Amino acid sequence: MSNRLEGDPFLVTKEHRRFAEFCDACRRYRYIGLCYGVPGVGKTLSARTYAQWDRIETLSPQLLAGVPPVPEILACRTVFYTAPVNNSPHTIHQEVRSRRRDLSALVSAMRWVLDGRTDYPLTFQGADLTELVIVDEADRLKPVGLEQVRDLYDRSTIGLVLIGMPGIEKRLARYPQLYSRVGFVHHFQPLSVEEMHFVLRHKWQQLGLTIDLSDFTDAEAVAAIIRITGGNFRLLQRLFSQIGRIMAINELRTLTKEVVESARELLVIGPTP
Ligand SMILES: Nc1ncnc2c1ncn2[C@@H]1O[C@H](COP(=O)(O)OP(=O)(O)OP(=O)(O)O)[C@@H](O)[C@H]1O
Ligand SMILES: [Mg+2]
Repeated sequence: MSNRLEGDPFLVTKEHRRFAEFCDACRRYRYIGLCYGVPGVGKTLSARTYAQWDRIETLSPQLLAGVPPVPEILACRTVFYTAPVNNSPHTIHQEVRSRRRDLSALVSAMRWVLDGRTDYPLTFQGADLTELVIVDEADRLKPVGLEQVRDLYDRSTIGLVLIGMPGIEKRLARYPQLYSRVGFVHHFQPLSVEEMHFVLRHKWQQLGLTIDLSDFTDAEAVAAIIRITGGNFRLLQRLFSQIGRIMAINELRTLTKEVVESARELLVIGPTP
């Protein structure tokens, strides 16, 4: 499951849109795409959202009869896979294969449901519908794991997206066979200052407040948050959980720079990425 906090909406940022376009291109042209970005910028969440993986993961063909239909998943063709820490080629092969089968079974069963039928088979024998496989935590892949992933790509007409930390592109360049198949590279960036303003409006709302940037106190608090988080989503989430706590304990109705700084002191923050 995703590590997003319950009730925290996914914000469609410019970076998410760029990521989605990059995935669409890899899917359309059946290329390998490489996406890298520092920890906490939102790579995993964007990828899960693109694949609608939270939905896919919780549905199963056999249980569809008992739940309201979800026509949105008819268009799903993407498998999201997190490379395990212990990634033998055999494990990767098995796990990706079973996810592709599950996705195809689910989409086919949903078609049945929407046609008013319930007689879909217990074991799915239909065609593989997968068009894109996204491998998260691709830094974990050892050379044989990378070989396995390349084999997976070569054996079927799918696009493949590898997500990792900055530097993965240099590491993969050492494997010419894999690297020569890379069609697109995407650098996942932190939020820009303008976008932070947009995101912070949501955060203020979650605290039951309204932001007013012409008010010096608000502008000062916003500037402090931008400086501390550097547009990093994970830092922002963590900072706001402390801000919420401080404001509740002290029964504060205004989010000031002082509150932001007290919250920052409660966080263990490494060097800002
Ligand atoms: N678009 C978004 N809308 C709302 N919250 C987001 C969004 N993107 C990221 N977040 C928040 O930031 C946190 C970190 O995001 P995520 O786990 O996707 O980062 P990451 O880039 O995959 O990091 P890592 O490299 O450490 O795996 C999420 O748990 C979520 O709370
Ligand atoms: Mg991640």
